[in-house]
Amino acid sequence: MLKRVILSNQNMYALITGASKGIGKEIAMELAKKKYDLILIARSASQLEEAAKEIRSKYAVKVDFLATDLSAPDVARGVFKWVEQNNYQVSILVNNAGYGLAGDFENYTLEQNRAMMNLNMITVSEMCQVFLPMLKRHSQAYILNIASSTAYQALPQMAIYAATKIFVLNFSRALKFELKNSSVSVTCVSPGATDTNFNDRAAIPAKARKAAEKVVMSPQDVAKISIDAMFAGKTEVIAGFVNKLGAFLAWIAPKAITEKVAAGIYE
Ligand SMILES: NC(=O)c1ccc[n+]([C@@H]2O[C@H](COP(=O)([O-])OP(=O)(O)OC[C@H]3O[C@@H](n4cnc5c(N)ncnc54)[C@H](OP(=O)(O)O)[C@@H]3O)[C@@H](O)[C@H]2O)c1
Repeated sequence: MLKRVILSNQNMYALITGASKGIGKEIAMELAKKKYDLILIARSASQLEEAAKEIRSKYAVKVDFLATDLSAPDVARGVFKWVEQNNYQVSILVNNAGYGLAGDFENYTLEQNRAMMNLNMITVSEMCQVFLPMLKRHSQAYILNIASSTAYQALPQMAIYAATKIFVLNFSRALKFELKNSSVSVTCVSPGATDTNFNDRAAIPAKARKAAEKVVMSPQDVAKISIDAMFAGKTEVIAGFVNKLGAFLAWIAPKAITEKVAAGIYE
């Protein structure tokens, strides 16, 4: 029988993946404002160290970090072991790390496509699985999974990326249902175009960047929406009015049309 423990925020850690920059770093800032201690994860140790220093000095919370590649096989188990060894109690798990690859999917190697799928899907589900027993020990705990507005339609030129994000969305919804009688709330937030390093890593073409210019959101706004949604216990949130409208239009329009329009932006 698992025991539930009630602790102050000061002893509760929020673990955020992809927290060295972009949306993840801003999510970390939002949680630090609420006095959560933090565990930041990404690959670059130097960027994590910088982010940790900045957050500690601004918010006087404890911040530790782990530099690891979350696209590696079986990495979630290793992260959990490290957390246990440090005696950290995680009550918030934020699966934010992820990236896309623009262009024809066949132009990437098997390894490149697999690494993206590992990070965006496999590690997200495995992090939830390995951390669930710890999360359930708290009287209230949260999982926040970051999907994307691309989860709402098939996206030629980002075929695998968009498919990984519908995985995140549907997995999160089902997990929330399965956990309805537990202390763990699951929220999935889907940002649209956000001003981060995402476009560079995905090699998004200039035409698509230009199309997004007028609707791009700041990572700060996306993080605030995400954290508010998580604490409100929401199941599924699309960040920003324009992205909500886009998802609605994609839902009512014939699929062949939404796919042609989307492909036109990227090609
Ligand atoms: N920006 C957008 O337009 C947009 C739109 C919709 C959804 N999203 C989603 O939002 C989430 C955050 O993206 P972002 O826009 O903030 O991108 P970003 O600025 O590129 O940040 C990505 C973060 O994830 C980390 N990361 C990347 N690959 C990793 C790996 N293999 N292992 C561990 N950490 C890794 C990065 O650090 P390292 O490089 O040091 O590892 C960084 O901290 C992603 O899931 C993305 O799909 C973004």
